[in-house]
Amino acid sequence: MGYRVAVVGATGAVGREMLNILAERQFPASDVVALASRRSLGTEVSYGDKTLKAKVLEHYDFSDTDIALFSAGGSISEEYAPKVAAAGCVVIDNSSKFRMDPDVPLIVPEVNGDALAGYTKKRIIANPNCSTAQLVVALKPLHDRAKIKRVIVSTYQSASGAGKAGMDELFQQTRAVFVSDPIEKDVFTKQIAFNVIPHIDVFLDDGSTKEEWKMVVEVKKIIDSAIKVTATCVRVPVFVGHSEAVNIELEQPLSAEEARDLLRESPGCMVVDKREDGGYITPVECVGEYATYISRIRDDITTENGLAMWVVSDNLRKGAALNAVQIAEQLIARHLTKPRG
Ligand code: A2P
Repeated sequence: MGYRVAVVGATGAVGREMLNILAERQFPASDVVALASRRSLGTEVSYGDKTLKAKVLEHYDFSDTDIALFSAGGSISEEYAPKVAAAGCVVIDNSSKFRMDPDVPLIVPEVNGDALAGYTKKRIIANPNCSTAQLVVALKPLHDRAKIKRVIVSTYQSASGAGKAGMDELFQQTRAVFVSDPIEKDVFTKQIAFNVIPHIDVFLDDGSTKEEWKMVVEVKKIIDSAIKVTATCVRVPVFVGHSEAVNIELEQPLSAEEARDLLRESPGCMVVDKREDGGYITPVECVGEYATYISRIRDDITTENGLAMWVVSDNLRKGAALNAVQIAEQLIARHLTKPRG
């Protein structure tokens, strides 16, 4: 018997990828339902070679649903996830709403799949922030081998991290620059076309942004609370694919060569590091891929046991939809859930 699955936010950038990935990976679903707002009632979305018509979340009865993948924003998760979980469904939530709740596991399956067992307290499992997911995939093997003390990360995050509306704004502004139309801003605080913006999510009292704070606290929750992280998160005019320049300070020595060999063998990692023109990955090359790509691995001689590297992944996939589907797959593989029917 298959699982009855609902995708909440199925008309959005991540929701559409969730449907693609469920189909691509042949998730054992007997039924998949696409849910969105009233505005999208009847909107068609693809699920493999099938077309689903979106239904309205607020009218949907989850009493037969086994797994709900949420990607409709924090306020929708806050309102609906606890109700849907109370109806007996497992919620895998892509918003930041429950990530730091001690009763909600925050999971990247390759990194801390064992923490999944704790999901029964609330029946909610959180997906990390997109920039955290790819970072922890690359950091975990290094931490296990040589213990990470401190990480300095600068991100180059694509417009799709701000949803479909973010991609539309990048497209419209790019067009407007070419035809000399006025630049209209709605999603981003400054022009994003042909520009970069050192500001993602709201500002906090200490001058950092919430996106930067999320990376700090989520790395600690997923890998080890002893790791110190400092982040600078920047939006760049790329449609899909987040990149990160990462500097790492380790407790024990680990050369760039050793790190490269280790990461080559690590789950979810793909090393492309030829030290020649074009011998590294850029965001356009990772679109539609599952892996976290690691390039430019080198010693950082400005500190003891230092390493530097470049980490790129499809933020809609490993950073969101793929990770959510992998969590659902792990729940099944670990016998932590079964179909209700
Ligand atoms: P809709 O298209 O009907 O607005 P993105 O992050 O790409 O902007 O996508 C957000 C997703 O969340 C969309 O599928 C959107 O549906 C959905 N969503 C937004 N508000 C609601 C709501 N009130 N109820 C259900 N889904 C919602």
